[in-house]
Amino acid sequence: MAIELFEMERMQSTWENVVDYDMSESGVRPLTLRELVEMGFDLESFLDVPLGYSQSNGTIELREGIAAHYPGATADHIEVTNGTSEANYMVALSQLRPGDDVAMEAPNYMQMPGVARSLGATVTTFRLCQDTGWEPDWEEFERAVTPKTKILYLSNPNNPTGAVLSDEAMTRIANRCDQTGTWLLSDEVYLGAEISRPRTKSFWGLGDRVVVTSGLSKAYGIPGVRVGWLVGPPQLASASWTQHDYITIGPNKMSDRIARVAVQPENRERCYARTREILKHNLPIAREWIESFGWSVTWREPQAGAIALLKYSGDEPSLAMAERVRTRQSTLIVPGSHVGLEGYLRIWLGGREDFLREGLRRIGSELRS
Ligand SMILES: Cc1ncc(COP(=O)(O)O)c(C=O)c1O
Repeated sequence: MAIELFEMERMQSTWENVVDYDMSESGVRPLTLRELVEMGFDLESFLDVPLGYSQSNGTIELREGIAAHYPGATADHIEVTNGTSEANYMVALSQLRPGDDVAMEAPNYMQMPGVARSLGATVTTFRLCQDTGWEPDWEEFERAVTPKTKILYLSNPNNPTGAVLSDEAMTRIANRCDQTGTWLLSDEVYLGAEISRPRTKSFWGLGDRVVVTSGLSKAYGIPGVRVGWLVGPPQLASASWTQHDYITIGPNKMSDRIARVAVQPENRERCYARTREILKHNLPIAREWIESFGWSVTWREPQAGAIALLKYSGDEPSLAMAERVRTRQSTLIVPGSHVGLEGYLRIWLGGREDFLREGLRRIGSELRS
């Protein structure tokens, strides 16, 4: 199967451990196992766990723990995967056939276009507009989501804008998918990483064809255990499991055990609170830095997630700009072209204060030159 390069992921894998300042990240600085022990993870008994295979769609205990966050869902609605990205992939693999249409918002996390095209589907995008707080361009949306559309993929809160859809927009999107018989694949891995606004609402419950994907990587701050999941009608969860059997069989046993502790309601809230605290501390630093540019660099402040999307003036392509920042400042950032929007750069807000300040200083000196 031919598949195009996932440009952003490849750029990150190539450079993130080589540069001095990796400002291309998108989660907050991660939790340690020690912090999870403080939340009740039993390290001592963990040492005696036989390292065999785990249940391939996630242990019942973990699936029940995840289902508890999605009203009406049971363990049969859940499939546990190796990260949210694998959950997205499993939905595409189980549902898409050559000739299908896929719609997605842009800018976005650009996994779905590559996967969908490799499966023979055609991808149509509709724009999110900065002027309206990153709401969809509704005309483009209506054109993109038709009865031929098998999957609509969106991320809410959105990567890279950090914007959250309004209730009205969510209803409109869900109604349209009901009318057209489209799977609404809502990637909610940033849900819980709100900075100063109420918790983002899930699309779960807004229709019969809603599939939610999420995981521990962003709002929880635990990307290294590689646990994600999908929540959907049991037939879809089961079809996805069938694909999974062929690929990685299932998630790893140690990660399943760690995830069982993380998803407990009180621990989930502790993880989210930690994320919020980091972001609340860092956002004013980034705001002050942005303001120092006057009108030559603008943004709509992110509402959720450790990412910010900046619009810069001038016509230097974003990839050239990011390359300049990397080679001259040993600092990695994400060009807008890798998230579906030219003329923008994505930067990271989730690090320690001194790291953030120095990363911004380095990016700033290239933006100014
Ligand atoms: C919207 C979105 N979905 C999925 C992923 C990948 O998540 P995971 O690490 O859980 O596979 C990312 C990573 O940046 C993301 O931004």
